[in-house]
Amino acid sequence: MSLRVCRTVAEFRAACDQVRHAGARVGLVPTMGALHSGHMALVDAARARGARAAITIFVNPTQFGPNEDFARYPRPIERDLELANAHGAELAFVPSVEEMYPPGEQTRVSVAKLVDVLCGPKRPNHFDGVATVVTKLFNVSGPCVAIFGRKDYQQLQVIRRMVRDLLLPVEVVGHPIVREADGLALSSRNMYLDAAERAAAPQIARALSAAVRGFAAGFRVDYVELVGESELEPIADEVTLAGSALLAVAAFLGRTRLIDNVVLGQDPAPVPEEEHG
Ligand code: PAF
Repeated sequence: MSLRVCRTVAEFRAACDQVRHAGARVGLVPTMGALHSGHMALVDAARARGARAAITIFVNPTQFGPNEDFARYPRPIERDLELANAHGAELAFVPSVEEMYPPGEQTRVSVAKLVDVLCGPKRPNHFDGVATVVTKLFNVSGPCVAIFGRKDYQQLQVIRRMVRDLLLPVEVVGHPIVREADGLALSSRNMYLDAAERAAAPQIARALSAAVRGFAAGFRVDYVELVGESELEPIADEVTLAGSALLAVAAFLGRTRLIDNVVLGQDPAPVPEEEHG
């Protein structure tokens, strides 16, 4: 295997310095392992930019909530290293938790407003954990181009903001989402899905496709909102919907404003499956 595996901060820092001393650029691909073709596309993207690909594999404890999947997150490290090697990654950084979080550690990096929406309220402290570990990875690797997938879009924007605010010498690149043939976005967590859940999962991508087609048809969106079906109240941060809720849309076509809605959990699909492709 030509991939060089570094397990300590000192070793990875020196290896990245060597890359730069040789006149090349470090192409950093931060991951939590359980690698799939989406991660490999990031390695390919680093190399396509002329950089020497350095993948990091670290299941970062501080970005998991107490009831999340830190303990059961898959860690197929030998397979990961083989895959990274086969895709031409030259360095792998596989640190221990103690290496990344020295005993007595007390420091977190926190981005403010961007984490107040989307996944932020649902996963308290998650983005502090991400911002902290990514800052550490950037500090160990030194100046680099770092490639992140756009599936974690909010994460990408948080990292971009953090790099600007902290004046980090890193070029951040967002890579398009890699999908299965049926549209499901690749994710290490897809392996948790049972057969019935896996069959249902592409519905998210289908709904997004319908939105893309609608937008491309020339609509100017006035609002798209998901609210309580009776009081029309905003869905509170701590609520995850299982019953019914109103999904309502207003959009202009030219000067005409159209509205429509469905009560999820009550109404049938307005257009039968076979007709919307
Ligand atoms: O996207 C991920 O896999 C993780 O959030 C990251 C960026 C590697 C930080 O642990």
